Amino acid sequence: MNKALRKAVIAGNWKMNKTPEEAKELIAQIAPLVKDADCSVVTCVPFVDLQAALEATKGTNIGVGAENCHWEKSGAYTGEISADMLAAMGVQYVIIGHSERRTYFGETDVTVNKRVRAALDAGLTVILCVGEYLEQREQGITAELVAMQTKIALQGVSKEELARIIIAYEPVWAIGTGKTATADQANEVCAVIREVIAGLYGRDAGDGITIQYGGSMNAKNAAELLDKPDVDGGLIGGASLKAPDFAAIVEAASR
Ligand code: 13P
Repeated sequence: MNKALRKAVIAGNWKMNKTPEEAKELIAQIAPLVKDADCSVVTCVPFVDLQAALEATKGTNIGVGAENCHWEKSGAYTGEISADMLAAMGVQYVIIGHSERRTYFGETDVTVNKRVRAALDAGLTVILCVGEYLEQREQGITAELVAMQTKIALQGVSKEELARIIIAYEPVWAIGTGKTATADQANEVCAVIREVIAGLYGRDAGDGITIQYGGSMNAKNAAELLDKPDVDGGLIGGASLKAPDFAAIVEAASR
């Protein structure tokens, strides 16, 4: 399948940044810059900013996502937010399995799978993150590891539901470090993930799924990364907090 037939998705991951007031301001800056984008544009924001982001993006082409969700619908899970709660607010996307959740908050492939299941059941679109640590890359197990993360995360997900899955390949060593994977490294692993999907769900599913790269993607390096045949977009951390930089990446994906 021609890459041009897959719609690119550029998503910002604001992580633990911005108050609701600041969120409104940043979205007001981003919206006019990306209004003619020929790709999907999403901002994933802290839970407390979701309402402000939903209001600020009304009438724009910017979708709103959360950065995590719990797998139960409700119950005694102090401090957690369910996928159903997000959907009830009008949130459309949710990031699941980000390496920061895996590294600092005990997220495992099994809990990632539970969260993916809950998000799909709630009607959300999932941005599923996979990626290796530097040690794992040096050990030569990147492909195996990312394949395993992908397979476990998608256990019990049907081919129809795959339409609401975006996969983000984020090498952990490239996140927030300024060390971007080369375009060839990014493409190589995105292609591995595509083959995993093709193996699980068929060639058409592999060809149809959107696979993003994330990790120090910025206004300068975006075009080269997005030019690669298996890189269909980006999950952007630091650069998503600056309207002109984020807009430049959206522009690069729109070409
Ligand atoms: P940076 O773009 O800041 O490296 O973060 C990438 C990321 O983790 C997006 O989810």
